[in-house]
Amino acid sequence: MARSATNKLLQKAKKSKSDEFYTQLSDIESELQHYKNHFKNKVVFCNCDDPTISNFFNYFASNFKKLGLKKLIAACYKKQEMDLFNTEGTENGFYYEYTGAEKENNEPTSKDIICFKGDGDFRSKESINLLTQADIVVTNPPFSLFREYVAQLIEYDKKFLIIGNINAITYKEIFKLIKENKAWLGINLGRGIEGFIVPEHYELYGTEARIDDYGNRIISPNNCLWLTNLDTSKRHEDIELTKRYFGNEKEYPKYDNYNGINVNKTKNIPSDYNGFMGVPITFLHKFNPDQFEIIKFRKGNDGKDLSINGKCPYFRILIRNKRVNEKEKIQEVTLYKKNVGESAKLQ
Ligand SMILES: C[S@@+](CC[C@H](N)C(=O)[O-])C[C@H]1O[C@@H](n2cnc3c(N)ncnc32)[C@H](O)[C@@H]1O
Repeated sequence: MARSATNKLLQKAKKSKSDEFYTQLSDIESELQHYKNHFKNKVVFCNCDDPTISNFFNYFASNFKKLGLKKLIAACYKKQEMDLFNTEGTENGFYYEYTGAEKENNEPTSKDIICFKGDGDFRSKESINLLTQADIVVTNPPFSLFREYVAQLIEYDKKFLIIGNINAITYKEIFKLIKENKAWLGINLGRGIEGFIVPEHYELYGTEARIDDYGNRIISPNNCLWLTNLDTSKRHEDIELTKRYFGNEKEYPKYDNYNGINVNKTKNIPSDYNGFMGVPITFLHKFNPDQFEIIKFRKGNDGKDLSINGKCPYFRILIRNKRVNEKEKIQEVTLYKKNVGESAKLQ
């Protein structure tokens, strides 16, 4: 291959670096075990997945019966370059629909594959046609198109479970979904997602980079999360609150530009504060919507980052404890009833 072609490919690979991270079966199994009750009689669509190599496809095909799936569709975008020197890939995408037929193994044969007329981009008409048939979309989409990818899932009102970068929480479109309880974090994040398989031409960087027993080259960026709108029981577990605000006011300074207190760690959220509290974004991993409501991201009333005596702590999310308010409301009503009762007695 000519040197300039190699350079071009290398540059392309660099640009789309995290777009070519392939998910490990162990990470898929470790997350999916928490959602088993969602899949009965459902059509699952993996729309950024080459069924011949995707572990998402592999997982759902292998667990087709156990999960009670109705259909599994995997659609692949253009060529999936696992090899830098494979420049011959096709410009067309393709897909495979699996309905659970017993075979020696689940891998599609060339007879099973249906070619798209176009490239199989998840935004293409052909891919959207498949999306409209699906109940749940599960995949690791291209990181560089994450906003658009999620917007499309919301537009088509799909259930989803997808991998993204932790930073995605800070995108205003994604934060809005989380605030409105239209999406939330899955179970595993950061180090909880062990790593991704990368193509041959990727530099193995980071102290945890390795080659596994099957020869897969693995990188552990430790900066990913699962984003979903499938409910889990963990999402309804309360964060245990052991601290108190009253008596410890100094530990919780007020913001200069918002009527709220700063809390440095999720575990330090006081149990007795009914106003606004700024907490680190890691709070979202523990967030129980029955216990807390999310108010706002990062900015004070002046549109600037939340600050304390002129200094800005790292991004904060403003939250409020629903239960303290509820407790207060109950107390108010009880007090009111008591007062009404007593004034009636006086008359
Ligand atoms: C992060 S990789 C993950 C691959 C696979 N889903 C997995 O988890 O192993 C993202 C994949 O999306 C594909 N892709 C990139 N742009 C796409 C697009 N516009 N539409 C559909 N797939 C795309 C890439 O080829 C790549 O295989």
